[in-house]
Amino acid sequence: MLDTPLTRHTGIEVPLICGAMYPCSNPELVAAVSDAGGIGIVQPISLTYVHGHKFREGLQLIRRLTDKPVGMNALIEASSRHYHERMVEWVSVALEEGIRFFVTSLGNPRWVCERVHAVGGHVYHDVTERKWALKGRDAGADGLIAVNARAGGHAGPKSAEALYAELADLGLPLVCAGGIGDAPDFVSALRMGYAGVQMGTRFIATPECLASAVYKQAILDAEEADIVLSERITGVPVAVINTPYIQRMGLKAGWLARRMLRGHKTKHWMRMLYGLKSIWQLKRSSLDESGEKDYWQAGRSVSGITSIEPSAEIVRRFRDAALKAASVPAGSR
Ligand SMILES: Cc1cc2nc3c(=O)[nH]c(=O)nc-3n(C[C@H](O)[C@H](O)[C@H](O)COP(=O)(O)O)c2cc1C
Repeated sequence: MLDTPLTRHTGIEVPLICGAMYPCSNPELVAAVSDAGGIGIVQPISLTYVHGHKFREGLQLIRRLTDKPVGMNALIEASSRHYHERMVEWVSVALEEGIRFFVTSLGNPRWVCERVHAVGGHVYHDVTERKWALKGRDAGADGLIAVNARAGGHAGPKSAEALYAELADLGLPLVCAGGIGDAPDFVSALRMGYAGVQMGTRFIATPECLASAVYKQAILDAEEADIVLSERITGVPVAVINTPYIQRMGLKAGWLARRMLRGHKTKHWMRMLYGLKSIWQLKRSSLDESGEKDYWQAGRSVSGITSIEPSAEIVRRFRDAALKAASVPAGSR
């Protein structure tokens, strides 16, 4: 169960990714998951803007904490030329620093695939439905991260089962992202046929994540029904805990923003504006211990998360559960 195309592409022991999280991916968290046998993914804006490292130095810090493989998230939506140029540079630096696994989101991953394949690395592309999966496959992606309706961050519209059925014939390894909070969820995703899982929310509730204590406690306290989708942060629905602050703000984008997001010319501009605003807002609310402006992103996996647990223990527990499940003959389950 633990030897999958994902473990072979990445050189890891447990097919478990700690997904990129803006603003929660700090170097210590990324390194801890990789060191334990999974793979942590660097989120460049989180590394630099939220956690204050120069990009290359942040990668070198992670390298000092672990010599195991780490990955990098490349958000490749090209709505700003400046941002695109920055991303091209970040990918170059990551390759120079020895990163060989990339997770691309949005846009067309072709240029990332070409550069990464040239040095023997692999690229997995985030998708929420078949049309994006076909685009990723045609651009050269080596695997797909199937983001389902229970995911934290920008959730997709479909269940893990439906997405697997929709993508299984594409001939690429599929990774299940969304709703994995505890070891039995991990085992059932592998049983379904997934080559691994990508988790976000579970890894926020760890000592290595530098998010505030009030944010972590809110994840422990929340139930599945407390997760709502808000458009007010990035202009597209993002999964957040339904706190009194979120209730006061409402979940829908304002009418002007909605109109501009629909406009052919104005939508890129509006997305950029939202992007800048959300980068600032999410940084502040993830680190602020007062919990007053609580924009706390989390997925429906909160229902399986009941304690703050070191990342290494999570990886070990999940690995042991998969090994145990694999040793039980199918007929006696
Ligand atoms: C706080 C938070 C921030 C996230 N930020 C990003 C991001 O910057 N880029 C990205 O590709 N995915 C992002 N995601 C999605 C995760 O990488 C992962 O796919 C998702 O969390 C899986 O669902 P789960 O939270 O139920 O485990 C984020 C998720 C969370 C919870």
